[in-house]
Amino acid sequence: MSEEANMPAPPQRDTRPIVPDAAGIAEAAALLRAGALVAFPTETVYGLGADATDGRAVAGIYAAKGRPSFNPLIAHVADLAAAEREGVFDADARRLAEAFWPGPLTIVVPKAAGCSVSDLACAGLDSVALRVPAHPIARELMQATGRPVAAPSANRSGRVSPTTAAHVWEDLNGRIDAVVEGWSTPVGVESTIVACLGGDPVLLRPGGVTRAEIERVLGRPLGTAADTPDRPLAPGLLLSHYAPKAQVRLDASHIMPGEAALLFGGAEPPGLDGAKARLDLSPKGDLAEAAANLFAFMRRLDLTGASAIAVVPIPEEGLGEAILDRLRRAAAPRP
Ligand code: TXA
Ligand code: MG
Repeated sequence: MSEEANMPAPPQRDTRPIVPDAAGIAEAAALLRAGALVAFPTETVYGLGADATDGRAVAGIYAAKGRPSFNPLIAHVADLAAAEREGVFDADARRLAEAFWPGPLTIVVPKAAGCSVSDLACAGLDSVALRVPAHPIARELMQATGRPVAAPSANRSGRVSPTTAAHVWEDLNGRIDAVVEGWSTPVGVESTIVACLGGDPVLLRPGGVTRAEIERVLGRPLGTAADTPDRPLAPGLLLSHYAPKAQVRLDASHIMPGEAALLFGGAEPPGLDGAKARLDLSPKGDLAEAAANLFAFMRRLDLTGASAIAVVPIPEEGLGEAILDRLRRAAAPRP
């Protein structure tokens, strides 16, 4: 939006839908290998993929998203063996990979000597972010492509992440080459990012695997980025992000007239009758269900034209940490 004002318009592309059968996966993989931009479903959110080894293809991602700066991207691979060709896994990193891959965990490790991921995808860092996605379509696509695929969320910069193919079409039609059409994304928030760069692993971004699950596997507490200013942050960590057009008001104890209400656990705060619209992330108070609904519900409430989305309190435990991280970014002051 305002960030995009500084970006040149990307070249117009003829975006085509791809059905995720065997022929469609082969077609999408061939497009990726030829340097095209292909959106595809993962278990977290839809990704906008490009051949991570091809700097020119990766540059296309930034142009299509209108990303103002070259943040490092996650390289998606088919399995741990492929990941170990790109990065150096210490004992902690290997333990996490074995416990959570395929799945919603990204591990940042030092680049391997033979790392094929382009400098642009790594933003010039000497570390690389790797993930083996669990979604069957993503897995088949990684296997068929046979090289790392860089993929941020398939939305325009600063917008809410896409959890359905329809969201991808809304944001990126005419800017990318293809959308692999799949069902919606079951986890609904992005992967958890953990850096294993020597010393204790550090949580860079809460996400689809909870802190408690990771600490159980490590047998000790994770560090946090804030505790270790000498370590690289996941850039953009505290910036306004994931933003709908409406303002976002957190910890709402009441709903003001004309606001849209984002509820949890069957909450009925005072003023709810005057709300422009209301959606409950999980009437039964299940945080996994709430995470899966979060981005789609923010898009739906935004479409009502409400001036603000009032969000009731949500417990910051388990997946609540990732949900509140995304909501705080949506509520942060905009540039
Ligand atoms: O669930 C997900 O992770 C989705 C799906 C598509 O896989 N992808 C995603 O990518 O959320 P993206 O680009 O929105 O987020 C990548 C994050 C950024 O915060 C980036 O700064 C961080 O990963 N990152 C990448 N490489 C890094 C590195 N070497 N060191 C520190 N942070 C890194
Ligand atoms: Mg994103």
